[in-house]
Amino acid sequence: MKYSANSLEHFWMPFTANRDFKNAPRLLVRGEGVYYWNHHDQKLLDGSSGLFCCAAGHGRHEIADAVAAQLKQLDFAPPFQTGQPGSFELARRVAELTPDGVNHVFFGNSGSEAVDSAMKIAYQYHRARGEGQRNRFISRERAYHGVNLGGTSLSGMVRNREAFGLGVAGIAHMRHTWLAENRFTKGQPEQGAELADDLQRMVDLYGKETIAACFVEPIAGSTGVLVPPKGYLKRLREICDAHGILLVFDEVICGFGRTGKAFGAQSFDVIPDMMTMAKALTNGAQPMGAVAVRDEIYETIVAAAPADAIEFLHGYTYSAHPGACAAGLATLDIYKNEGLFERAAELSPYFLESVFALSDIPVITDIRGYGLMAGFDVAPDGAPGKRGTDCQKRLFAAGLHVKMTGDAGILAPPLIIEREQIDEMCSILRDVLTKY
Ligand SMILES: Cc1ncc(COP(=O)(O)O)c(C=O)c1O
Repeated sequence: MKYSANSLEHFWMPFTANRDFKNAPRLLVRGEGVYYWNHHDQKLLDGSSGLFCCAAGHGRHEIADAVAAQLKQLDFAPPFQTGQPGSFELARRVAELTPDGVNHVFFGNSGSEAVDSAMKIAYQYHRARGEGQRNRFISRERAYHGVNLGGTSLSGMVRNREAFGLGVAGIAHMRHTWLAENRFTKGQPEQGAELADDLQRMVDLYGKETIAACFVEPIAGSTGVLVPPKGYLKRLREICDAHGILLVFDEVICGFGRTGKAFGAQSFDVIPDMMTMAKALTNGAQPMGAVAVRDEIYETIVAAAPADAIEFLHGYTYSAHPGACAAGLATLDIYKNEGLFERAAELSPYFLESVFALSDIPVITDIRGYGLMAGFDVAPDGAPGKRGTDCQKRLFAAGLHVKMTGDAGILAPPLIIEREQIDEMCSILRDVLTKY
């Protein structure tokens, strides 16, 4: 498909320096395997699976064909009070991957919608149990939970919050888990499990009976891959259990093999009450997000309403869209048939070894990593994020796409990446970053 961009003016780009970009656009026009091509026909290695979406690589015909076939047969079906088979089948397939007892799946169109849906499920669950006063949420500094107002309020990224008013009331943030003494730790750091006790402090401060849920990413992805210290997530689970607080894992980046298992929950051996997911659910080929919930949450909410009543007054026109469900089903087939989660686990030591070998580059001040995901920090140059943005542009010009957030780079290549391509990625990183 060929479009020519005759004017760059009309499209208001998201999370982009619009004026700067439009002066020197970086347009991607094709993707295949672990590579993109830009509008100058330059080939770029995709070091971040787009935005952590394309775990099975780009240009997967199986997904495109499944979506096309679905749209020809049934393009849209109202998801309210009617249904279409793909949504039920995809929910069943997702439930096969989630931990035991987490078997009910609510669909939206993005990670942000999944997070806000999970907040509403938490409110309503406690209300249905006669504990409607539980309407506080606890999250974490340096968290990213999307851009809807609930998720913006949960997030702990100052610049993403400051322009948008007071946000949702009653949200408090625990400390993040980055510790200077853990710099350059491969895998889970030894130090820092006690940071989970911040949740206990919130309980002591606000009263356990006021807290609905605690939201964390198993690995905080967007702010640079902050791997949880050993014991940290288990401790959060224990505190939640002690006080009737729901534990929500935001698996939007971690889900679907990134950590070497289906979800971070399995990698870190902690079962949450709810899990949000998106991105790799459809390999990024169609917009889709989901919340998987523990059976008792679904059953409590459903049982609280009369048998013929709508139980949860929430949903999106495009919840479980037929095209997205077809993409999701084809994607999960690929993951299974190609054993991609296991592949990520097998490749992880080589990937981490290669990325950590960059530790000697002076501008790099920290590297972290787990599974097929690693974060590196570059020394700031003046305003926060200035050097990170510059890095992203220089890497792009050198043939590597890497998502930078602030002064952190996030490496999360497609799970189909080969060792030589990991070498190619690290060699471009070395060439570009040693020039600072
Ligand atoms: C952990 C997490 N939650 C939520 C989101 C928001 O997802 P989306 O951009 O699909 O709304 C993201 C996006 O990167 C994310 O990393």
